[in-house]
Amino acid sequence: MPNDERLITTGFREGEDEQEQSLRPKQLRDYVGQEPIKQNLRISIEAALGRREALDHLLLYGPPGLGKTTLAGIIAAEMGQNIRITSGPAIDRPGDLASILTNLSDGDVLFIDEIHRLSRSVEEVLYPAMEDYALDIMIGKGPTARSIRLDLPRFTLVGATTRAGLLSAPLRDRFGLLFRLEMYTPQELATILRRNAGILHVAADEDGIMEIAGRSRGTPRIANRMLRRVRDFAQIRADGCITSTIAHQALDMLDVDNLGLDKVDRTMLTTMMDKFAGGPVGLDTLSAMTGEDAATIEDVYEPYLMQLGFLMRTPRGRIVLPAAYEHLGRKPLTPPEDADASQQLKF
Ligand SMILES: Nc1ncnc2c1ncn2[C@@H]1O[C@H](COP(=O)(O)OP(=O)(O)OP(=O)(O)O)[C@@H](O)[C@H]1O
Ligand SMILES: [Mg+2]
Repeated sequence: MPNDERLITTGFREGEDEQEQSLRPKQLRDYVGQEPIKQNLRISIEAALGRREALDHLLLYGPPGLGKTTLAGIIAAEMGQNIRITSGPAIDRPGDLASILTNLSDGDVLFIDEIHRLSRSVEEVLYPAMEDYALDIMIGKGPTARSIRLDLPRFTLVGATTRAGLLSAPLRDRFGLLFRLEMYTPQELATILRRNAGILHVAADEDGIMEIAGRSRGTPRIANRMLRRVRDFAQIRADGCITSTIAHQALDMLDVDNLGLDKVDRTMLTTMMDKFAGGPVGLDTLSAMTGEDAATIEDVYEPYLMQLGFLMRTPRGRIVLPAAYEHLGRKPLTPPEDADASQQLKF
């Protein structure tokens, strides 16, 4: 499927950035959900402001679209500081990072997205910068080489990653605050959708909002994307107001079912059921079956299927759980002592 027709993707799409910007909450009080993170942050921010110090370095991790970038912006705003945004893959060489660091001002928030993709040599520049606000530079080569230490401004590093597991231990240990973002409940997503319908000037009734919320896979970015698609549908096929029927029809047309599963999820689950007796199935096989790359399956599809209790990761591979059979209207394979099931197992 071409990327721009997909509701469920890993990141931004062309032209979506501007709209995302307008929907991004700018203050902590507009940031819906993630209560434990907000509570902790409020305390840390107030304490840092009280001491007139920079906030501790902070790592945000969790699946894409849950609000890491948004939260980084809010943290800078709440601290009353500027934010500088970059990403792991954009920082090629240690010198790139050195120039970013030396250009910071006191109190600045440096946001590094996809921080797990920093190379080891770049990471090594980051360690003294995070720990001692210092930059070690080698001058000369060979036996006469010496290292000089430059002082850096007191900055706060906010790192974001979808893969905390890929972060090297020394880097992870240098963050004072580590927060894992959780998927949102349909009620929380409904709150986000109501606010955004207002911003986009879309009329939507409560049932329409709940219909979209329930299909958004616990992910605000998907909720926002669906809201725009349903808005278009409502405008063309109805009087513009998003009702439950309109939302239902629009999302059915986009092949998103009532739990938010799309074609890839369904292909994955049904192939596992039909061809592999429910698993275990390895990640590479899942990737070949669906045509999605392994990272997308791990970051985007699996977290939600696991959250639903449809899929389990085991050391030997992925296993489909009974709830998935039920949702897809199939009979789970039960242990062979059951006569009925031993029949099924012959297939
Ligand atoms: N807690 C929230 N309250 C309201 N809106 C939110 C919240 N979290 C995210 N959003 C909305 O979802 C959109 C996507 O969030 P964001 O870009 O911050 O996700 P992300 O975690 O950085 O994703 P990625 O891992 O792909 O970079 C934002 O534009 C914002 O509108
Ligand atoms: Mg982001």
